[in-house]
Amino acid sequence: MIKVGLVGFGKAGQAVAQVLQSDPRYELCWIARRTAATSAKTAPEPDVPMATLATPDDWAQWLDAHPVDALVDFSIPESLHLYGEQVRARSLMLVSAISAYSEADLTYAHSLAKDARVLCSPNITVGINFLIMAARLLRKIAPFADVEIVEQHFKEKPEVSGTARKIAQSIDVDEDRITSLRLGGIVGHHEVIFGFPYQTVRLIHNSIERRAFGTGAAFALAELAHCGNGFYTFDDMMMRMVQKELLSAADA
Ligand SMILES: NC(=O)c1ccc[n+]([C@@H]2O[C@H](COP(=O)([O-])OP(=O)(O)OC[C@H]3O[C@@H](n4cnc5c(N)ncnc54)[C@H](OP(=O)(O)O)[C@@H]3O)[C@@H](O)[C@H]2O)c1
Repeated sequence: MIKVGLVGFGKAGQAVAQVLQSDPRYELCWIARRTAATSAKTAPEPDVPMATLATPDDWAQWLDAHPVDALVDFSIPESLHLYGEQVRARSLMLVSAISAYSEADLTYAHSLAKDARVLCSPNITVGINFLIMAARLLRKIAPFADVEIVEQHFKEKPEVSGTARKIAQSIDVDEDRITSLRLGGIVGHHEVIFGFPYQTVRLIHNSIERRAFGTGAAFALAELAHCGNGFYTFDDMMMRMVQKELLSAADA
């Protein structure tokens, strides 16, 4: 069983804690957050120690007393610099879901990956990553097909979805091919439509709830456990799995 420390207990972290606690492959040992109290509680509080670790020394002492195999980070970009040297010194596995790392943060994460297994993914759901992989494949197979991207979200979301922009970038389609609809309380809907002369292919992903982030983190941890030290993305993990499956199918 992989012992995990969770960093961040906000909206995403609370959902991720639920998933990790119910997955028999993992033991959620503790949770680190900035303050002692949960601001907006969206799930029952797990029965594990809560830590408030403000400095690199706090992290070193906490990990001496509460060792784990892996950290899963759903907090803020700055946290990486508080626990980073512990990841390096203890060769911890790190799954970081932080969406807003700067170039300097990513350079630091790459430096840790010389001595540890580090996965950074600004989008950590299995479903969206699969959609992107499938769309890239179809784009290669049928570069002549028309492509449109439709994203739908709750009424209050002001900006074009970052995920839709990532999809457009991944399949080399101009961002003006994205249509955004804002309706009621839709959590997140992304659709890539391939228009062929005599047929249409639609790849659709619907987000249902935040626990999908936990499923993604659990997938990433399981794959990371089979890797050597290095820097990985979610795409790398999916490609590893697809290659393994395709090769074993070809051998059969
Ligand atoms: N990759 C993905 O697919 C994905 C999906 C969802 C979210 N995210 C990322 O996950 C992060 C959290 O999102 P959210 O919606 O849950 O935000 P949120 O509700 O604002 O929660 C942020 C959490 O981080 C904690 N935190 C802040 N500084 C910390 C520190 N130094 N050490 C430990 N914990 C610290 C906060 O603690 P307090 O509660 O004490 O203030 C809070 O619990 C964001 O960076 C977001 O980009 C990524």
